[in-house]
Amino acid sequence: LDEHVWWYLSRGSGLVAWTTLTASMSFGLVLSTRLFGRGVAPAWLLDLHRFLGALAILLTAVHAGALVADGYVQFSIADITLPFAANWKPGAVAWGIAAMWCMLAIEVTSLLMRRLPRSWWRAIHTTSFATFVAVAVHAARAGTDRSEGLVQLGALSAVMTVMFLTFVRILAERGARRSVAT
Ligand code: HEM
Repeated sequence: LDEHVWWYLSRGSGLVAWTTLTASMSFGLVLSTRLFGRGVAPAWLLDLHRFLGALAILLTAVHAGALVADGYVQFSIADITLPFAANWKPGAVAWGIAAMWCMLAIEVTSLLMRRLPRSWWRAIHTTSFATFVAVAVHAARAGTDRSEGLVQLGALSAVMTVMFLTFVRILAERGARRSVAT
C-alpha cells in the first residue's frame, strides 16, 4: 500500500465534500426560491437537499479523519477540531474547521427543527452562506490541488452556481415582500 494513501484520501474526500456541499446548497436554494416552479416536487427537493447535506458532513469527517490517520502531515484530534491548534498552515485549516462546526450546527438544528423556534433554525441555517465562503477560502489557501486546472474550473463553477442562486433568492424575497405590500 502506498504510504501516502491517507493523504490522498484526505485530498480526494475534501474535494468531493466541497462538491456535495455545493449541491446541497444549490438544491436548498432551488427549494426556497421555487425556481423550477411546479416541475419539481418540493418534497423531493427537500429529501435530496437533506441527503446531500448529511453526506457533505460525512465526507468532511473522512477528509479530516484521514489527516489524523496519515503520518505524512501530523494532525491530532485537537488539530482538526480547534482553530489554530495545528502547526500545518494553521490559518488555512482554521477556515475549514469553522465551516465544519457550522455544518454540524446546521445539521443538528435541522434534525431538531420541530422542537426549536423557527427563527433559531432560520438564523443557524443562514450561516450556510458564510460556511460556503469559508470552505472556498479554506480550499484556496490549504489545497494541494489548487493549481490544478480542473480543480480551478470546478471551484469557479461551484462559486458561480451558488452566487447565481443566492442572487435569485434575494430577488425572490424582494418580489414576495412587494406583493405582500401591494
Ligand atoms: C450541511 C447541511 C446543510 C446546508 C449547508 C444547508 C443549506 C441550505 C441553504 C443554502 C438553503 C437555502 C436557504 C435560503 O434560501 O434561505 C437551505 C434551505 C432549506 N434547508 Fe438546508 N442545509 C443543510 C441541511 C439541511 C437539513 C438536514 C434539513 C432538514 C430538514 C434542511 C432543511 C431545509 C429547508 C426546509 C430549506 C428551505 C427553507 C425555505 O424554503 O425557506 N437543510 N438549506
